[in-house]
Amino acid sequence: MHAYSAPAKIILFGEHAVVYGEPAIAAPFRALQAQVTATPAPYGSGLSIIGAASGVTLHVSPANDTPDNALIYAAQLVLEALGKPPPDLTLELRSDIPIGGGFGSGAAVSAALMRALSAALGAPLSGEALNALVYRVEQLHHGTPSGIDNTVIVYEQPVYFVRGEPPQTFRVGAPLTFLVADTGVSASTRETVGDVRRLYEGDQAHYGAIIAEIGELVRRARALIEAGGACEELGELMNTNHALLRALSVSSALLDHLCATARQQGAYGAKLSGGGRGGSLIALTEPDLAPALAKALREAGAVQTWLMQLE
Ligand code: PMV
Repeated sequence: MHAYSAPAKIILFGEHAVVYGEPAIAAPFRALQAQVTATPAPYGSGLSIIGAASGVTLHVSPANDTPDNALIYAAQLVLEALGKPPPDLTLELRSDIPIGGGFGSGAAVSAALMRALSAALGAPLSGEALNALVYRVEQLHHGTPSGIDNTVIVYEQPVYFVRGEPPQTFRVGAPLTFLVADTGVSASTRETVGDVRRLYEGDQAHYGAIIAEIGELVRRARALIEAGGACEELGELMNTNHALLRALSVSSALLDHLCATARQQGAYGAKLSGGGRGGSLIALTEPDLAPALAKALREAGAVQTWLMQLE
Protein backbone atom coordinates (compact mmCIF):
# COMPACT_ATOMS: atom_id res chain seq x y z
CA MET A 1 0.00 0.00 0.00
CA HIS A 2 1.43 3.36 -1.02
CA ALA A 3 0.23 6.86 -0.16
CA TYR A 4 0.39 9.79 -2.56
CA SER A 5 -0.44 13.32 -1.54
CA ALA A 6 -0.86 16.87 -2.77
CA PRO A 7 -1.07 20.08 -0.73
CA ALA A 8 -3.68 22.82 -0.62
CA LYS A 9 -2.84 26.21 -2.07
CA ILE A 10 -3.31 29.83 -1.09
CA ILE A 11 -3.59 32.71 -3.53
CA LEU A 12 -1.64 35.66 -2.12
CA PHE A 13 -2.53 38.23 -4.78
CA GLY A 14 -4.44 38.48 -8.04
CA GLU A 15 -7.37 36.02 -7.93
CA HIS A 16 -10.12 36.69 -10.47
CA ALA A 17 -7.98 39.20 -12.42
CA VAL A 18 -5.82 36.18 -13.33
CA VAL A 19 -8.74 34.83 -15.39
CA TYR A 20 -8.35 37.94 -17.61
CA GLY A 21 -4.62 37.53 -18.25
CA GLU A 22 -3.25 39.49 -15.29
CA PRO A 23 -0.61 37.85 -13.08
CA ALA A 24 -1.34 36.22 -9.72
CA ILE A 25 0.88 34.97 -6.91
CA ALA A 26 0.11 31.73 -5.11
CA ALA A 27 1.88 29.33 -2.78
CA PRO A 28 1.41 25.75 -1.59
CA PHE A 29 -0.25 25.47 1.81
CA ARG A 30 1.24 22.32 3.27
CA ALA A 31 -0.74 22.29 6.54
CA LEU A 32 -3.65 20.86 4.55
CA GLN A 33 -3.23 17.79 2.35
CA ALA A 34 -5.17 15.40 0.17
CA GLN A 35 -3.89 11.82 0.32
CA VAL A 36 -4.70 8.75 -1.73
CA THR A 37 -3.59 5.20 -0.97
CA ALA A 38 -3.61 2.48 -3.61
CA THR A 39 -4.25 -1.14 -2.60
CA PRO A 40 -4.37 -4.09 -5.02
CA ALA A 41 -7.89 -5.53 -5.25
CA PRO A 42 -8.98 -9.14 -6.01
CA TYR A 43 -8.83 -10.26 -9.63
CA GLY A 44 -11.82 -9.00 -11.62
CA SER A 45 -12.99 -6.48 -9.04
CA GLY A 46 -11.99 -3.46 -11.16
CA LEU A 47 -11.08 0.04 -10.08
CA SER A 48 -12.87 1.66 -7.16
CA ILE A 49 -12.41 4.92 -5.31
CA ILE A 50 -13.45 5.07 -1.65
CA GLY A 51 -13.96 8.32 0.24
CA ALA A 52 -12.52 7.60 3.70
CA ALA A 53 -14.75 10.15 5.43
CA SER A 54 -18.00 9.58 3.53
CA GLY A 55 -17.60 5.84 3.02
CA VAL A 56 -18.92 6.31 -0.52
CA THR A 57 -17.49 3.90 -3.10
CA LEU A 58 -17.29 4.81 -6.78
CA HIS A 59 -16.59 2.34 -9.57
CA VAL A 60 -14.59 3.51 -12.55
CA SER A 61 -15.49 2.09 -15.93
CA PRO A 62 -13.53 2.83 -19.13
CA ALA A 63 -14.21 6.36 -20.41
CA ASN A 64 -17.18 7.02 -22.66
CA ASP A 65 -18.86 10.32 -21.81
CA THR A 66 -17.40 12.92 -19.49
CA PRO A 67 -18.81 11.90 -16.08
CA ASP A 68 -20.26 14.43 -13.64
CA ASN A 69 -18.12 13.02 -10.88
CA ALA A 70 -14.69 14.67 -10.77
CA LEU A 71 -12.98 11.69 -9.10
CA ILE A 72 -14.19 9.27 -11.76
CA TYR A 73 -13.21 11.74 -14.46
CA ALA A 74 -9.71 12.13 -12.94
CA ALA A 75 -9.23 8.35 -12.96
CA GLN A 76 -10.55 8.02 -16.52
CA LEU A 77 -8.18 10.73 -17.75
CA VAL A 78 -5.20 8.82 -16.36
CA LEU A 79 -6.36 5.54 -17.96
CA GLU A 80 -6.89 7.32 -21.28
CA ALA A 81 -3.49 9.08 -21.14
CA LEU A 82 -1.70 5.79 -20.38
CA GLY A 83 -3.85 3.72 -22.77
CA LYS A 84 -4.70 1.20 -20.02
CA PRO A 85 -7.92 -0.50 -18.91
CA PRO A 86 -9.08 -0.05 -15.30
CA PRO A 87 -6.80 -2.15 -13.04
CA ASP A 88 -7.99 -4.24 -10.08
CA LEU A 89 -7.25 -1.60 -7.51
CA THR A 90 -8.80 0.32 -4.62
CA LEU A 91 -7.95 3.98 -4.22
CA GLU A 92 -8.79 5.38 -0.81
CA LEU A 93 -9.06 9.14 -0.49
CA ARG A 94 -8.51 11.23 2.63
CA SER A 95 -8.39 15.00 2.64
CA ASP A 96 -8.31 17.64 5.34
CA ILE A 97 -8.75 20.45 2.82
CA PRO A 98 -12.11 22.24 3.26
CA ILE A 99 -14.22 21.96 0.08
CA GLY A 100 -15.23 25.29 -1.43
CA GLY A 101 -12.81 27.02 0.93
CA GLY A 102 -10.53 28.64 -1.64
CA PHE A 103 -7.82 26.10 -0.85
CA GLY A 104 -7.81 24.30 -4.19
CA SER A 105 -9.33 21.15 -2.72
CA GLY A 106 -10.49 19.87 -6.12
CA ALA A 107 -7.06 20.20 -7.72
CA ALA A 108 -5.29 18.64 -4.72
CA VAL A 109 -7.61 15.64 -4.63
CA SER A 110 -7.25 15.14 -8.40
CA ALA A 111 -3.45 15.42 -8.23
CA ALA A 112 -3.14 12.90 -5.36
CA LEU A 113 -5.51 10.46 -7.07
CA MET A 114 -3.74 10.72 -10.43
CA ARG A 115 -0.35 10.25 -8.78
CA ALA A 116 -1.56 7.12 -6.98
CA LEU A 117 -3.24 5.60 -10.03
CA SER A 118 -0.44 6.28 -12.51
CA ALA A 119 2.15 4.92 -10.06
CA ALA A 120 0.07 1.78 -9.47
CA LEU A 121 -0.03 1.28 -13.24
CA GLY A 122 3.78 1.48 -13.32
CA ALA A 123 3.83 4.75 -15.28
CA PRO A 124 4.04 7.71 -12.86
CA LEU A 125 3.02 10.90 -14.66
CA SER A 126 5.57 13.68 -15.15
CA GLY A 127 4.80 17.05 -13.53
CA GLU A 128 3.85 18.50 -16.89
CA ALA A 129 1.52 15.64 -17.82
CA LEU A 130 -0.08 15.65 -14.36
CA ASN A 131 -0.58 19.42 -14.49
CA ALA A 132 -2.35 19.18 -17.87
CA LEU A 133 -4.68 16.41 -16.66
CA VAL A 134 -5.53 18.12 -13.35
CA TYR A 135 -6.38 21.22 -15.37
CA ARG A 136 -8.93 19.20 -17.34
CA VAL A 137 -10.66 18.15 -14.11
CA GLU A 138 -10.58 21.78 -12.95
CA GLN A 139 -12.53 22.66 -16.08
CA LEU A 140 -15.28 20.34 -14.87
CA HIS A 141 -15.35 22.15 -11.46
CA HIS A 142 -14.83 25.73 -12.59
CA GLY A 143 -15.77 26.13 -16.25
CA THR A 144 -12.94 28.46 -17.25
CA PRO A 145 -10.18 28.07 -14.67
CA SER A 146 -7.03 30.11 -15.10
CA GLY A 147 -4.86 27.08 -14.26
CA ILE A 148 -3.28 28.63 -11.17
CA ASP A 149 -4.60 26.03 -8.69
CA ASN A 150 -3.32 22.97 -10.53
CA THR A 151 0.03 24.63 -11.24
CA VAL A 152 0.82 25.48 -7.61
CA ILE A 153 -0.51 22.19 -6.30
CA VAL A 154 1.32 19.98 -8.80
CA TYR A 155 4.69 21.79 -8.61
CA GLU A 156 4.42 22.57 -4.86
CA GLN A 157 6.27 25.86 -5.20
CA PRO A 158 5.29 29.51 -4.87
CA VAL A 159 4.53 30.78 -8.37
CA TYR A 160 3.98 33.97 -10.26
CA PHE A 161 1.37 32.85 -12.72
CA VAL A 162 0.10 34.32 -15.97
CA ARG A 163 -2.57 32.35 -17.79
CA GLY A 164 -1.21 30.51 -20.83
CA GLU A 165 2.44 31.12 -19.89
CA PRO A 166 4.84 28.74 -18.13
CA PRO A 167 4.68 29.44 -14.37
CA GLN A 168 7.56 31.48 -12.97
CA THR A 169 9.06 30.71 -9.61
CA PHE A 170 10.43 33.63 -7.62
CA ARG A 171 12.75 34.31 -4.73
CA VAL A 172 11.33 35.23 -1.34
CA GLY A 173 13.72 37.94 -0.06
CA ALA A 174 12.72 37.52 3.59
CA PRO A 175 10.26 35.06 5.18
CA LEU A 176 6.68 36.30 5.48
CA THR A 177 4.17 35.08 8.05
CA PHE A 178 0.54 34.81 7.05
CA LEU A 179 -2.40 33.86 9.18
CA VAL A 180 -4.91 31.92 7.09
CA ALA A 181 -8.53 31.83 8.26
CA ASP A 182 -11.49 29.81 7.02
CA THR A 183 -14.89 31.52 7.10
CA GLY A 184 -16.54 28.10 7.11
CA VAL A 185 -18.79 29.36 4.32
CA SER A 186 -18.56 27.17 1.25
CA ALA A 187 -18.78 29.20 -1.94
CA SER A 188 -18.74 28.23 -5.59
CA THR A 189 -15.81 29.58 -7.57
CA ARG A 190 -17.67 28.74 -10.75
CA GLU A 191 -20.41 31.15 -9.64
CA THR A 192 -18.13 34.01 -8.57
CA VAL A 193 -16.05 33.70 -11.75
CA GLY A 194 -19.30 33.76 -13.76
CA ASP A 195 -20.61 36.81 -11.88
CA VAL A 196 -17.37 38.73 -12.49
CA ARG A 197 -17.64 37.80 -16.18
CA ARG A 198 -21.18 39.20 -16.36
CA LEU A 199 -20.12 42.44 -14.66
CA TYR A 200 -17.15 42.75 -17.01
CA GLU A 201 -19.25 42.15 -20.09
CA GLY A 202 -21.80 44.72 -18.90
CA ASP A 203 -19.19 47.48 -18.43
CA GLN A 204 -15.78 46.58 -19.81
CA ALA A 205 -14.28 50.04 -19.26
CA HIS A 206 -15.09 50.12 -15.54
CA TYR A 207 -14.38 46.49 -14.62
CA GLY A 208 -11.46 46.23 -17.03
CA ALA A 209 -9.82 49.13 -15.17
CA ILE A 210 -10.30 47.35 -11.81
CA ILE A 211 -8.79 44.17 -13.24
CA ALA A 212 -5.83 46.09 -14.69
CA GLU A 213 -5.29 47.79 -11.32
CA ILE A 214 -5.14 44.39 -9.62
CA GLY A 215 -2.57 43.28 -12.21
CA GLU A 216 -0.41 46.34 -11.51
CA LEU A 217 -0.60 45.67 -7.78
CA VAL A 218 0.46 42.03 -8.24
CA ARG A 219 3.57 43.08 -10.21
CA ARG A 220 4.44 45.50 -7.40
CA ALA A 221 3.83 42.79 -4.76
CA ARG A 222 6.19 40.39 -6.52
CA ALA A 223 8.97 43.00 -6.51
CA LEU A 224 8.40 43.67 -2.78
CA ILE A 225 8.38 39.95 -1.89
CA GLU A 226 11.63 39.46 -3.82
CA ALA A 227 13.28 42.46 -2.20
CA GLY A 228 12.20 41.29 1.28
CA GLY A 229 11.26 43.18 4.43
CA ALA A 230 8.55 45.49 3.03
CA CYS A 231 5.70 44.22 5.22
CA GLU A 232 3.94 47.58 5.61
CA GLU A 233 3.80 48.14 1.87
CA LEU A 234 2.82 44.54 1.15
CA GLY A 235 0.04 44.80 3.74
CA GLU A 236 -1.24 47.96 2.04
CA LEU A 237 -1.29 46.12 -1.28
CA MET A 238 -3.30 43.31 0.33
CA ASN A 239 -5.83 45.83 1.66
CA THR A 240 -6.12 47.43 -1.78
CA ASN A 241 -6.42 44.04 -3.46
CA HIS A 242 -9.26 43.19 -1.07
CA ALA A 243 -11.06 46.46 -1.82
CA LEU A 244 -10.75 45.82 -5.56
CA LEU A 245 -12.12 42.27 -5.15
CA ARG A 246 -14.98 43.79 -3.22
CA ALA A 247 -15.61 46.11 -6.18
CA LEU A 248 -15.78 42.96 -8.33
CA SER A 249 -18.60 41.74 -6.00
CA VAL A 250 -16.74 38.70 -4.65
CA SER A 251 -16.31 39.71 -0.99
CA SER A 252 -18.96 39.18 1.70
CA ALA A 253 -19.95 40.88 4.95
CA LEU A 254 -18.10 38.20 6.92
CA LEU A 255 -14.93 38.46 4.81
CA ASP A 256 -14.97 42.27 5.16
CA HIS A 257 -15.51 41.97 8.91
CA LEU A 258 -12.70 39.43 9.39
CA CYS A 259 -10.27 41.48 7.28
CA ALA A 260 -11.12 44.62 9.28
CA THR A 261 -10.64 42.67 12.53
CA ALA A 262 -7.22 41.47 11.37
CA ARG A 263 -6.13 45.02 10.58
CA GLN A 264 -7.41 46.30 13.96
CA GLN A 265 -5.39 43.56 15.66
CA GLY A 266 -2.19 44.85 14.10
CA ALA A 267 -1.93 42.77 10.92
CA TYR A 268 -0.05 44.60 8.16
CA GLY A 269 -2.94 43.88 5.81
CA ALA A 270 -5.63 41.34 5.00
CA LYS A 271 -7.58 40.13 2.00
CA LEU A 272 -9.87 37.36 0.89
CA SER A 273 -8.07 34.53 -0.88
CA GLY A 274 -9.45 32.44 -3.73
CA GLY A 275 -12.88 32.64 -5.28
CA GLY A 276 -14.44 34.73 -2.49
CA ARG A 277 -18.00 35.24 -1.06
CA GLY A 278 -16.89 32.72 1.58
CA GLY A 279 -13.86 30.47 1.67
CA SER A 280 -10.72 31.88 3.19
CA LEU A 281 -8.80 35.03 3.94
CA ILE A 282 -5.15 35.76 4.66
CA ALA A 283 -3.54 38.35 6.91
CA LEU A 284 0.13 39.35 6.87
CA THR A 285 1.43 39.51 10.42
CA GLU A 286 4.46 39.53 12.67
CA PRO A 287 4.92 35.98 14.03
CA ASP A 288 4.57 37.09 17.67
CA LEU A 289 1.20 38.75 16.96
CA ALA A 290 -0.21 35.63 15.32
CA PRO A 291 -1.72 33.89 18.41
CA ALA A 292 -3.72 36.99 19.43
CA LEU A 293 -4.73 37.56 15.83
CA ALA A 294 -5.91 33.96 15.48
CA LYS A 295 -7.98 34.29 18.67
CA ALA A 296 -9.55 37.57 17.52
CA LEU A 297 -10.44 36.11 14.12
CA ARG A 298 -12.08 33.07 15.70
CA GLU A 299 -14.06 35.33 18.04
CA ALA A 300 -15.11 37.37 15.00
CA GLY A 301 -16.49 34.30 13.21
CA ALA A 302 -13.63 32.37 11.56
CA VAL A 303 -14.05 28.62 12.06
CA GLN A 304 -10.37 27.72 11.81
CA THR A 305 -7.00 29.45 11.49
CA TRP A 306 -3.51 28.33 10.50
CA LEU A 307 -0.08 29.90 10.26
CA MET A 308 1.64 29.87 6.90
CA GLN A 309 5.25 30.84 6.41
CA LEU A 310 6.30 31.94 2.93
CA GLU A 311 10.04 31.42 2.49
O1 PMV B 1 -10.19 27.77 -6.43
P1 PMV B 1 -10.31 29.06 -5.70
O2 PMV B 1 -11.63 29.31 -5.09
O3 PMV B 1 -9.15 29.30 -4.80
O4 PMV B 1 -10.22 30.25 -6.78
C1 PMV B 1 -9.43 30.19 -7.92
C2 PMV B 1 -8.97 31.54 -8.33
C3 PMV B 1 -9.82 32.32 -9.31
O5 PMV B 1 -8.95 33.32 -9.82
C4 PMV B 1 -10.99 32.96 -8.63
C5 PMV B 1 -10.33 31.46 -10.45
C6 PMV B 1 -9.25 30.95 -11.38
O6 PMV B 1 -9.58 30.05 -12.16
O7 PMV B 1 -8.12 31.45 -11.37
